[in-house]
Amino acid sequence: MSNYETITVEKEGKVAILTINRPDKLNALSSMVHIEGVEALDELRADEGVRVVVITGAGEKSFIAGADISEFEGKTPITQRATFNERTLFNTIDSFPKPVMAMVNGFCLGGGNELALACDLRICSENARFSQPEINLGIIPGGGGTQRLTRLIGEGRSMEMCLTGDMIDAETAHRFGLINHIYPLAELRQKTLELAGKIAEKAPIALQLAKEAVKFASRSNLDEGLRREVDLFAICFSTEDKKEGVSAFLEKRKPEFKGK
Ligand code: COA
Repeated sequence: MSNYETITVEKEGKVAILTINRPDKLNALSSMVHIEGVEALDELRADEGVRVVVITGAGEKSFIAGADISEFEGKTPITQRATFNERTLFNTIDSFPKPVMAMVNGFCLGGGNELALACDLRICSENARFSQPEINLGIIPGGGGTQRLTRLIGEGRSMEMCLTGDMIDAETAHRFGLINHIYPLAELRQKTLELAGKIAEKAPIALQLAKEAVKFASRSNLDEGLRREVDLFAICFSTEDKKEGVSAFLEKRKPEFKGK
């Protein structure tokens, strides 16, 4: 794995943990974080030993406090549009073939919330706080905030978050369906890695196809979605892992999936 300036990557078994490492700036997303994060994800995509990626922020105060506001100065519409291109961390996570989990350990604001929204699962600590505060800067979310948030929690709740910029606490985020699980900060890493480890034991191709199918649900109508699902379901029948999964069940043993 390459050495990075703004992120770190470690591995625990089949799980890779990508940490945004700018704690003095509450892990704000600078352009360098986007560049290095995308580069690291490219490496993790190609690494067959990695089955699940967990993204978190360094320290105990903040997951990610949004885009690096200091970089907004001097930006024109053209340069800003070029920054938020298809190779943002948000879009790279969204289209990543392996499951990606956000381990939200504190402030999850603006681009931080958008990054968490691009992930497949979101696990947070009790001290986590969520918001889309862009409105307070005279702008709106540009990394999927208005779109992914609305699809996940519904228009009324998303609208209130985007119009007020107010923070919601972990309990509220859980009630809204923004968060899958909440744990005390001291247990967050262990609980997240337990869940990541459980998913990492499943059949990799089936994980990829399940992710694609579930994500397609909010991007299509029901008929298109059902057609896509059955196509992806059928593809599973071409894999060695499907044979292994069925044999293991019939032979009453644990399957050993190889990603083939
Ligand atoms: N971009 C750049 N720097 C940021 C930042 C961001 N989004 N969020 C925090 N920081 C920096 C602060 O400028 C400060 O740096 P300094 O010590 O060099 O002055 C450092 O991180 C610590 O933040 P601070 O504001 O002192 O901490 P706090 O506990 O008083 O407040 C927040 C925490 C999260 C409420 C506050 O930092 C904040 O509102 N951040 C901006 C959130 C935001 O609007 N994000 C969306 C951007 S589109």
